[in-house]
Amino acid sequence: MKILLTGGAGFIGSHTAVALIENGFDPVIVDDFRNSEPFVIENIEKIVGKKITYYSLNIGNKEGVKNILQRENPVGVIHFAADKAVNESVLNPMKYYQNNVLNLINFLEVIDQMNINSFVFSSSCTVYGVPDKIPVNESALIKPAFSPYGYTKQVGERILTDFFKTKNKSSLTLLRYFNPIGAHPSGLIGELPIGVPSNLVPYITQAGIGKRKKLTVFGKDYDTKDGTCVRDYIHVVDLANAHVAALKKGLKRKDSIKTYNVGTGKGASVLDVIKAFEKVSQQGLNYEFGPRRAGDVPKIYSDNFLIKNELAWHPKFSLEDCLEHAWKWEKNLFNFKYKSEKKQD
Ligand code: WQD
Repeated sequence: MKILLTGGAGFIGSHTAVALIENGFDPVIVDDFRNSEPFVIENIEKIVGKKITYYSLNIGNKEGVKNILQRENPVGVIHFAADKAVNESVLNPMKYYQNNVLNLINFLEVIDQMNINSFVFSSSCTVYGVPDKIPVNESALIKPAFSPYGYTKQVGERILTDFFKTKNKSSLTLLRYFNPIGAHPSGLIGELPIGVPSNLVPYITQAGIGKRKKLTVFGKDYDTKDGTCVRDYIHVVDLANAHVAALKKGLKRKDSIKTYNVGTGKGASVLDVIKAFEKVSQQGLNYEFGPRRAGDVPKIYSDNFLIKNELAWHPKFSLEDCLEHAWKWEKNLFNFKYKSEKKQD
């Protein structure tokens, strides 16, 4: 069965393409490669040992998407295509409304005529804002978004929910990711930050390899066990497998709308992540404490009861596994020169 992956050459999409093939599906990638590189496709093929069908295209190109859908006739869609840098979204909101909202609407107008039985959407724990209760569950109040990026995820969830309410042969699954980190254990695919990483783990591994002088820990006076922010860090391969579980369930259900948190259900502080990196890399990390970063939520981690109970999915990798695989990927990246590392420096 063919599954269309929009943004399928990206960080989560590429790992999900591997997981789909490992589960007998046939992924078709559509990606404009704004956040990826051609070598990612080659490395997915090396991991799975077979060719991958992919199209280099922006999903806002309605004619192009229509031709691909008619040619490939997928039974399912996993929609990853979106920009995802919180701070960039504050500086350039229209890029985010254009790509994450308008392109989603264009895409839905095209698939409206197709028989898509299972649609999985890449959402984010960002939709919760600062949760009233930790761990946060799917029925938590959705607060005003902290950033344009977070707002596009809230709007995306609402657009998709209203769209799929008009469909009785299709299921919709909204996956609210917590903090995706790590890389494929092979070291062949992983995160490709553009310019200076805004996320913690790629910054740590770049500091570890000497690409960055030192890590700044944004704040150590939060009301947490060690004063640094707490997050729910989920291995990207665990996250990819959650997409396969959601897709499969959606193919069986065919007519419902479900929302799942995808996280480990455990919180880890910035200092916990640093300690895990130092343990797996067997080297000290050069870091200092700096001021808090605007917009940071002090503490958030998931209540993952629903996804474990309804999709029989469980996270398998530990925080140390995540850092071990992220570090292996960083060391391998020297072999794959890629253009986006130069941007925004
Ligand atoms: C984690 C913690 C920082 C960098 C965002 C999006 C979320 C998802 C993941 C897309 C925070 C601290 C970070 C650094 C630091 N994106 N930190 N020094 O902000 O929790 O989540 O990225 O899906 O939607 O909101 O992730 O990795 O940026 O930060 O101290 O150089 O690490 O303050 O506490 P975040 P992050």
